[in-house]
Amino acid sequence: MVCLGNICRSPLAHGIFEHLISHKNIVVDSAGTAAYHVGNPPDPRSQEVAQSHGIDISTQKARQFTAQDFERYDHIFVMDRSNYSNVIRLATQEQHRSKVELLIPDTEVPDPYYGGFDGFEKCYQMIFKACQKRINAFP
Ligand code: 4NP
Repeated sequence: MVCLGNICRSPLAHGIFEHLISHKNIVVDSAGTAAYHVGNPPDPRSQEVAQSHGIDISTQKARQFTAQDFERYDHIFVMDRSNYSNVIRLATQEQHRSKVELLIPDTEVPDPYYGGFDGFEKCYQMIFKACQKRINAFP
């Protein structure tokens, strides 16, 4: 799960996906394309919205996406088209590029960082539905 800062959207996606797949043998992780917040916990508003839905994301720590992630993971889900370009720029082979897709096909999860709490709840709802669909598509 990839966004820009790895403190708002992708930590939610990471927490939600993990919460929903407890019974499947899938490793979930998240990262940001930028390094601004590396080492920081998720934004307090993301932590609060997750907590309000029974999901604890407080122990996550932001990290930056690296080219090694193309080797480590089978699927790389990005939140918006800017994340998509930033990730694709690091890919050196078609096999890696083909792993990258918008978490929600043809739709961006809007960056909630500069807005109010409502934006975080909206992100939560969008990401939750998308994760359910993705998980149903896994074996
Ligand atoms: P995220 O949100 O990409 O969903 O983690 C953002 C977090 C921080 C910044 C921008 C977006 N920032 O500019 O610091």
